[in-house]
Amino acid sequence: MDVLVVDHPLAQSRLTAMRNTESDSGAFRAALHELTTMLVYEAARSFAVEAYPIETPVAPTMGTRLANPPLIVPVLRAGLGMADSALALLPESSMGFVGLARDEKTFEPRAYMESLPGDLSGLPVLVLDPMLATGGSLVHCCRLLVERGCTDVAVCCVLAAPEGIERLRASGTVRHLVTASIDEGLNDKKYIVPGLGDAGDRQFGGM
Ligand code: URA
Repeated sequence: MDVLVVDHPLAQSRLTAMRNTESDSGAFRAALHELTTMLVYEAARSFAVEAYPIETPVAPTMGTRLANPPLIVPVLRAGLGMADSALALLPESSMGFVGLARDEKTFEPRAYMESLPGDLSGLPVLVLDPMLATGGSLVHCCRLLVERGCTDVAVCCVLAAPEGIERLRASGTVRHLVTASIDEGLNDKKYIVPGLGDAGDRQFGGM
């Protein structure tokens, strides 16, 4: 698994807005939308392209398009805020959804929604989840994709903890990880430090 940290001034300013407790949910969502555009832009560097003939007003020439646009999969609930920006950059893509909750008894992630094509062989998938903390949820999600035959998973997340990166790497399910920061680690409540708090609550309010 290769890991790309988008250490760009514009990405880092949006990340700062997301970290800042003075940002209300509107400002948080706006920064997440813009940052997602930058993360997906970088993730798309690894996408295969194909040439095809076009005509400019002046002359025929060869153009470029994505050979195999990825299925976009936001992980509910927090990944929802990344979905629109990703689809705007990849209008040829389709979207699937994975909803994950923590099982009250086992504390393990459990899918309450899997809205995905049955056969993902030959189709690249771009997973959107703002927080890679312990990695439990993302690994669960990526295993669902691999079970359907997917061999080309890229993940965009806003923040990653080293523990989560290692767990994702060890799962062997992901080829590319793109993030805006690798933070220090996790606290005893498994929040990323310094992090940005609960990404779902910051976008949509606490439940
Ligand atoms: N999920 C979040 O929303 N925030 C964290 O810090 C960790 C997991």
